[in-house]
Amino acid sequence: MEVVCGSGVCVSSLPRSSTITRSTVPQFRVSYQYLTPFPSQSHLFSYHPPPYAKTLRARTTTKPAIFLPHLVASLQQVDQTYIMVKPDGVQRGLVGEIISRFEKKGFKLTGLKLFQCSKELAEEHYKDLNQKSFFPKLIDYITSGPVVCMAWEGVGVVASARKLIGATDPLQAEPGTIRGDLAVQTGRNVIHGSDSPENGKREIALWFKEGELCDWTPVQAPWLRE
Ligand code: RTP
Ligand code: MG
Repeated sequence: MEVVCGSGVCVSSLPRSSTITRSTVPQFRVSYQYLTPFPSQSHLFSYHPPPYAKTLRARTTTKPAIFLPHLVASLQQVDQTYIMVKPDGVQRGLVGEIISRFEKKGFKLTGLKLFQCSKELAEEHYKDLNQKSFFPKLIDYITSGPVVCMAWEGVGVVASARKLIGATDPLQAEPGTIRGDLAVQTGRNVIHGSDSPENGKREIALWFKEGELCDWTPVQAPWLRE
């Protein structure tokens, strides 16, 4: 089977040697791609509406009408969160599994590195907890081996990441969450996630140097959000 896509037309189930002509195309399943990934000039995604599609022509004019839900969606806040696979997650070979959960959800990875952090950095990161009795043990834990530092971006990413991660105590975390599925003890709960958009920005700035983050556009972006 061969699939030929171009100018917004997709033809599937063609024999390998087929030549596509006006007369042969109707024999096969033909569908027009009305939802183009990019409204740009990119030749890969250029779109030419079929001449008979009068109703479609209105939608693809260069000056699209403003549709209120789209306008509201475009105004939604894009946040950043700092996610870290803690030393137990790295030692237990859970890095791929954890990254995969954020990728599958549809968030955008903008920073990633394996890193052995210093005591000073761990203390700065968890400075809000420095009066807690478990603070020294927490710092020993976070500095006990390499961690995987990640920056993720998306609308609502901070709150959503906390849901994906689950409760601090893995025994209280819901099945289906990272901690609920992969851990049993608070002191070995495999992953950190920022608890507010402000802390997301603060922690990314703390763990990543300038030039370590990547600004990019995933090809799937138009398939995740209207
Ligand atoms: P994290 O900051 O690591 O994402 O965790 P969290 O928000 O769910 O919980 P937080 O209260 O910020 O605690 C930070 C980490 O400290 C350790 N901890 N140990 N022994 C204890 O009672 C205790 N409580 C907290 C955990 O590793 C927790 O994730
Ligand atoms: Mg926390």
